[in-house]
Amino acid sequence: MADSLNRREFTRLCSSMIAGAFAGAQLPLRAEDKVHYPRAQLLDNNKQPITAATLDAGEPYLFFYPFVTTPCFLINLGTSAAASALTDSGGKQYDWRGGVGPDRSVVAYSAICSHKMSHPAKEISFINYRHDTVSFYNREGKNEERTGVISCCSERSIYDPRDGARVLSGPAPQPLAAIELQTEESTGHLFATASYGGEMYERFFDKFGFRASMEHRVTDPKKPVGKSSTIRKLADYSGQTIKC
Ligand code: FES
Repeated sequence: MADSLNRREFTRLCSSMIAGAFAGAQLPLRAEDKVHYPRAQLLDNNKQPITAATLDAGEPYLFFYPFVTTPCFLINLGTSAAASALTDSGGKQYDWRGGVGPDRSVVAYSAICSHKMSHPAKEISFINYRHDTVSFYNREGKNEERTGVISCCSERSIYDPRDGARVLSGPAPQPLAAIELQTEESTGHLFATASYGGEMYERFFDKFGFRASMEHRVTDPKKPVGKSSTIRKLADYSGQTIKC
């Protein structure tokens, strides 16, 4: 863990040095803002590597990264997702890199809501990806219907996974943190390599660390996930997934 923190501090120091070097010029959005964690290969239940083609379009999958207790969504949106510029709750801009895979349709996000950190647990999940139509009031107060959104039913925040998990509705103060995915060129195997945007991990550990440790049977909720992480359907992990 000490290594992780050092790496994190080092990455942030580099980011601020780069920002300083470009002060006064129009800065490109900074991929350097991401926090590198050890690369983890995504595997299926049989410990086999997965590719974009493994994933059913519209089906929300869950894996844990960068820590054994921190859940992430993995989704094949069924449509391409282009890169975009986003801003976290501190006003910091970052560059969401878009989907990966042959169709650029595979995305991953931390599944910890940026409002009050609702997240998938074994018993129940109030936060879910909805491939079907969801109705909500947008930021202009107008009723809107959309397919393919991440919906947190705790207090009804809606995120757009086709656009870096930008907030479309509700009290969430910032997009979900993005998980950087890489595909191995020769095989198409998928790896998680970093996290960027508004990370919620420390606050998550403060509030849910004990419960998460019990659920995952670890003494330290901040235990790094290691060289691989197993994906499963969200519906197979959480006994109940709430739709609203
Ligand atoms: S915790 Fe998700 S909307 Fe409040």
